[in-house]
Amino acid sequence: MMSEWWKRGIVYQIYPLSFQDSNGDGKGDLQGIRGRLDYLQWLGVDAVWISPIYPSPMKDCGYDVADYRGIAPEFGTLSDFDALFADVRARGMKLILDFVPNHSSDQHPWFRESRDSRRSAKRDWYIWRDPAKDGGPPNNWLSNFAGSAWTLDKRTGQYYYHAFLKEQPDLNWRNPAVRTAMYDVLRFWMERGVDGFRVDVLWHLMKDAQMRDNPPNPGYRPGDPAVRRVLDVYSADQPEIFEVLAEMRGVVDAYPGRILIGEIYLPLERLVAYYGVGGNGVHLPFNFHLILAPWSAREIAKVIAEYERLVPPGEWPNWVIGNHDQKRIATRVGAAQARVAAMLLLTLRGTPTLYYGDELGMEDVRIPPERARDNWTRTEPGQVGRDPQRTPMQWDASVNAGFTRSEPWLPLNKNFERVCVESQKRDAHSMLSLYRALIDLRRSSAALVGGAKRLVEAPDEVLAYERAEGRERLMVALNFCREPRVLRGVAGRLLLSTHLDREGERFDGELRLRADEGVIADLAARAS
Ligand code: GLC
Ligand code: CA
Repeated sequence: MMSEWWKRGIVYQIYPLSFQDSNGDGKGDLQGIRGRLDYLQWLGVDAVWISPIYPSPMKDCGYDVADYRGIAPEFGTLSDFDALFADVRARGMKLILDFVPNHSSDQHPWFRESRDSRRSAKRDWYIWRDPAKDGGPPNNWLSNFAGSAWTLDKRTGQYYYHAFLKEQPDLNWRNPAVRTAMYDVLRFWMERGVDGFRVDVLWHLMKDAQMRDNPPNPGYRPGDPAVRRVLDVYSADQPEIFEVLAEMRGVVDAYPGRILIGEIYLPLERLVAYYGVGGNGVHLPFNFHLILAPWSAREIAKVIAEYERLVPPGEWPNWVIGNHDQKRIATRVGAAQARVAAMLLLTLRGTPTLYYGDELGMEDVRIPPERARDNWTRTEPGQVGRDPQRTPMQWDASVNAGFTRSEPWLPLNKNFERVCVESQKRDAHSMLSLYRALIDLRRSSAALVGGAKRLVEAPDEVLAYERAEGRERLMVALNFCREPRVLRGVAGRLLLSTHLDREGERFDGELRLRADEGVIADLAARAS
């Protein structure tokens, strides 16, 4: 089997505010995570990625960093972090931190100094421009959270650029001093042992040197987020990013075994550019296309085939079905298909990343407006924001699902007595049991971890592929529809069904799939 841990392993994303509260303030924290490592080990994941835990005014739930080298008091202290890291290590797992290089908080000392005066030594650490002739913003770029991406600083009479909230000014990555400072941040955490970084909005880092206006988006439809009114032709994915990326990779490569995972929302042919050339990009440019594509066997097959064709030789694929910015998979495709999605995620060729709670089939929670925490709901009225997919982990049937002893920072799903770790552990047919079985099978199968993949002919609304390595030959067949389907001309033995009730069943000539059923079959084991 492959030696690199990040090719073999499964990544588990923790949203720290929502995983486990240890001190009764209703918010998750590092000691809380520490207390739940046994669960993660039992589940069988290899690496834990924790969304930002740095000091922050929390305007964007920690993606507005005020100190890149500290721990937010609500999450704990640096020594809590070291203790957590040691415990992760002791279990043979890896720890990945979130690195937010595109922007800082407006409360970061760098920005305070930068905004102080036009002559400030840090002025050029951020992106400042004079107003347009009419006094308005320098160009038409839009914030991802609606409105102009420029805010006028009255005192110095210039605008600063922010791709997200006005409290998240973009750093100027054309300035070598910014690069040096941020690379030192990476070193700071690698010195403490961390195994890698998930790099926030990596494709945003470099902007057009001339700051040209973005063209209007002819595909914009009413109801789309306002940011889609223009195409981000000049505000993101600029060629100069690859020079920065190569430097960043060099910094990380100086520490053996560490990795970079890039958050990148781009079409597949642009996404794969972020692998770089000859290993000078990120190890894994997050592939979100299972989230972005419509949920149908045909569309997903297209994504798989195109992606496999585009991943450069020598580079390694990866797959994601959920994160803290997207509707949860169980809400998006429904409970039955969420099981099919789980099988897909854990049997494709490439590193899977799993979002906390998806292993229980957790669903989006409707958040009453007065309890909203995501400021996007305020900057863009009508947006439900991302709180629904960020609700507390559902551990058990006790008060507040075992997440906290006081009021949780976001409301819990009312279904937590049924949809929780404790009850699903006892239920042999639960989503959690399915995830455990899938992870178990994957860990024991060289074909599933590193084997070749080949899409195979299948009936309408069925996605089927083979994974093979040495003498091991497996077939995965996933029924995306509500009716039974039959695959013909195949023989073997079932290793696992998403319904968890057909293990060991042999088939010869015909493989029957029930509605919403996925199976993994051993083809090497002939039927008779
Ligand atoms: C990324 C994060 C998202 C955040 C944004 C700005 O997309 O995943 O949660 O709001 O960057 O940092
Ligand atoms: Ca807490």
